[in-house]
Amino acid sequence: MKREKAAKKSVVVDADGDLIVPRKGEDDQEEVEIFLELSLRTPLTGVGAQLWRGALFLSDYLLANPDILRGARVLEVGAGVGLTALVAAAVGCGAASGRKAVAATDLESNLALLSRNLRRNCSRLVNGGECEDLFDIFPLDLTKEELPDSVLQGGYGVILGADIVYSDDLTDGLIRALGQLAQMRRITCLLSVEKRYVFTLADLQTTAPAYDRLKEGLSRSLPTAEVTEYSSDQVEQRFCYEASPDLVLLELRFPEPS
Ligand SMILES: C[S@@+](CC[C@H](N)C(=O)[O-])C[C@H]1O[C@@H](n2cnc3c(N)ncnc32)[C@H](O)[C@@H]1O
Repeated sequence: MKREKAAKKSVVVDADGDLIVPRKGEDDQEEVEIFLELSLRTPLTGVGAQLWRGALFLSDYLLANPDILRGARVLEVGAGVGLTALVAAAVGCGAASGRKAVAATDLESNLALLSRNLRRNCSRLVNGGECEDLFDIFPLDLTKEELPDSVLQGGYGVILGADIVYSDDLTDGLIRALGQLAQMRRITCLLSVEKRYVFTLADLQTTAPAYDRLKEGLSRSLPTAEVTEYSSDQVEQRFCYEASPDLVLLELRFPEPS
């Protein structure tokens, strides 16, 4: 992963004493290695053990738009192997008054792997960062009707979800959860979505049913959210993956709750 280098503090001059102004370019970026334990193939029940393209794309989006995260507490749902949560912490979201910066959540069955990956990479990505100081790691099942109070009261300003739109109950749960969080405070939600086109005999055409369900659900249940969609070729790519037109990012901005 490439990220911007921290600003240089020293002033550099040439032999005549002229100031050398650093140019923006490759030299401003540093390469950081991330080591993730993951599976290349899993049954549907264990998809959180794989690293999906959506996580790479959402991570790229965060690196390209760090201002979205500055000072915010982040809640990631369906965090999988933890890449996006790590990048969010590295980009610099905010921990406030004894609270941790990033809540990395998933189904209970995926938490041990998620936790190992966050621990393994934490200090490498976040200067002086100890995993325990940066991340809350806890189970969160979006298909449950109500979000727990601890999540509703968690002060999360940015909600992240990478490739979690693929089954009806999860999509419906996500929309319900966003509605509950948006009633608590002003939130921004970033979702990377694989359109996953299928041909159906019922429609006699190719459709992207999970993506369509999300878009319809958002406009029906959360009409006040301002939705902007980005294709992967609109975002600078720092990770290595196929940036296909089927991969999109939805940025949802909710108004201040009344
Ligand atoms: C396709 S994977 C994406 C994982 C990761 N975000 C990535 O992009 O690499 C879907 C994720 O959603 C999680 N998930 C499945 N059902 C869920 C539910 N009911 N509530 C919350 N997360 C769920 C899975 O455990 C998995 O981590």
